[in-house]
Amino acid sequence: MQYRQSGHSGIQLPVMSLGLWHNFGANDDYGVARDMVLTAFDRGICHFDLANNYGPPPGSAELTFGRIMKDDLHAHRDEMLISSKAGHDMWNGVYGTGSSRKNIMASCDQSLRRTGLEYFDVFYSHRYDPATPIEETMQALVDLVRQGKALYVGISKYPADKQREAYAYLQREHVPCLLSQYRYSMFDLKARQCNFDLAVAAGSGIICFSPLAQGLLTGKYLDGIPADSRVAKHSPFLTPAHITPKRLEAVRQLGVIAANRGQSLAQMALAWVLAEGRVTSVIIGTSSVNQLESNLSALDNPTFTTEELNRIDEIISIPEISF
Ligand SMILES: NC(=O)c1ccc[n+]([C@@H]2O[C@H](COP(=O)([O-])OP(=O)(O)OC[C@H]3O[C@@H](n4cnc5c(N)ncnc54)[C@H](OP(=O)(O)O)[C@@H]3O)[C@@H](O)[C@H]2O)c1
Repeated sequence: MQYRQSGHSGIQLPVMSLGLWHNFGANDDYGVARDMVLTAFDRGICHFDLANNYGPPPGSAELTFGRIMKDDLHAHRDEMLISSKAGHDMWNGVYGTGSSRKNIMASCDQSLRRTGLEYFDVFYSHRYDPATPIEETMQALVDLVRQGKALYVGISKYPADKQREAYAYLQREHVPCLLSQYRYSMFDLKARQCNFDLAVAAGSGIICFSPLAQGLLTGKYLDGIPADSRVAKHSPFLTPAHITPKRLEAVRQLGVIAANRGQSLAQMALAWVLAEGRVTSVIIGTSSVNQLESNLSALDNPTFTTEELNRIDEIISIPEISF
């Protein structure tokens, strides 16, 4: 595994992190979930990305992870960087969503209980909440650090103007933002300009999610919807409507470049995210150990020729494929 320094902090992150958004919930196979976490850790992926609402049902991915920690990994806690987040819909009731102090404080306590951890390495505001003053959200994050419930803080998906305000508040309180989390893939370039620039200027690391566009950038949907895929499992986040002819055509063309490089399309898509040198780590999601092992091999061929990059740019510059 390779590691990159996260912004101006003293923390190094593995270039690949494992996310537990899908495939770690109460309805998923615990044995497979455990094997994925243990394989990841054995291969140097020491950063695990959680959120209070991951499941389904919400909270169950943290319960799964807590069980693996207790049964298998507790002795390695100091070698692990574990993140969680609050901000999206979590429990019914007026305080169960958003980025108020009330929600963030209660959420962090609940997440600690579910995972059985004493502290999170990183606690994120999962989203900017226009109904809450940003000062309130940021002060809640600062206080989690002061209370010893988090070592570092992060922000996720903040729009540029609020991202700027968040960094400034956190810097004033001497709790700098360790990580800024944005979606970034060959099918979603939006964060690359403004959000990445702001993060670098503020000394924050950058961590990217959905690098395979939730599986589209593996080529798995080229011949229909595989029975065991995210779309077939009715994820509300990736539906048949996302599998458009234009995206499939781009996937086909990208697959040719990947094959010429001796890589799978998934491997090339991950290498491409990491070729953006400002990215500290890419969060992968997997539904099997085979996928995990295969994705790790992206690191065997990380560099691109100028011709390859130009051809990829040409393919992905079609506006209709962006999402
Ligand atoms: N901050 C945020 O708001 C936010 C939002 C989203 C995600 N995240 C984080 O980012 C993580 C990753 O997101 P993601 O799951 O969307 O990432 P992704 O890498 O774009 O998609 C992962 C999915 O693609 C499929 N896949 C992966 N490797 C494959 C391979 N080699 N061959 C075939 N299929 C493969 C699997 O789905 P199937 O096998 O089931 O089809 C897998 O679950 C999440 O777990 C979470 O931690 C954060």
